[in-house]
Amino acid sequence: MKALILFSSRDGQTQKIASYIAKELNGTLPCDVFNISEVKTLDWTQYDRVLIGASIRYGHYHPAVAEFVTQHLHELKQRASGFFSVNLTARKPEKRSPETNAYTAKFLQQSPWQPDCCAVFAGALRYPRYRWFDRIMIQLIMRMTGGETDSSKEVEYTDWDQVARFAREFAQLSGKLR
Ligand SMILES: Cc1cc2nc3c(=O)[nH]c(=O)nc-3n(C[C@H](O)[C@H](O)[C@H](O)COP(=O)(O)O)c2cc1C
Repeated sequence: MKALILFSSRDGQTQKIASYIAKELNGTLPCDVFNISEVKTLDWTQYDRVLIGASIRYGHYHPAVAEFVTQHLHELKQRASGFFSVNLTARKPEKRSPETNAYTAKFLQQSPWQPDCCAVFAGALRYPRYRWFDRIMIQLIMRMTGGETDSSKEVEYTDWDQVARFAREFAQLSGKLR
């Protein structure tokens, strides 16, 4: 049996985290990593656990995440599962738990799928890669929240030790399939 890791990523950070988790698990747990927006058909019989990671843009996850959950609710509920959220609010340690991170708390409150483990990771700030509108908007948000405002900068806030710890937690979930 394998682990299925699905990511929703606009600028690549959530994909990078998903791949890092797969690499951490490799050896103990074979994994398939797919983009949740591109995955068409899935052979669920191959997977006994599933992990979904998604980033925030302007306060929201990509709609493909909720659509996937609705469409595959039965399969998700049958398996050991995890969820991780990636956003910049989580660059502040006090906003980096499922309870204190508003996007994650709201997701868990509204989702018909309740994952067995959940984490919030700080994402990356990559001004030079953003379109001008996004750059201005992010700069504004950063100014309001006391973050980096130098638009020539790229900053990766992700705590890779935290990601590795979560990978181990996910791997240790007891299986549900019988
Ligand atoms: C246009 C844009 C909007 C964003 N909106 C938010 C936001 O509302 N809240 C937040 O905490 N982070 C926000 N972020 C930060 C992203 O969540 C962060 O950069 C993350 O690493 C993106 O992950 P991805 O590359 O996998 O999409 C935004 C980033 C961009 C570029």
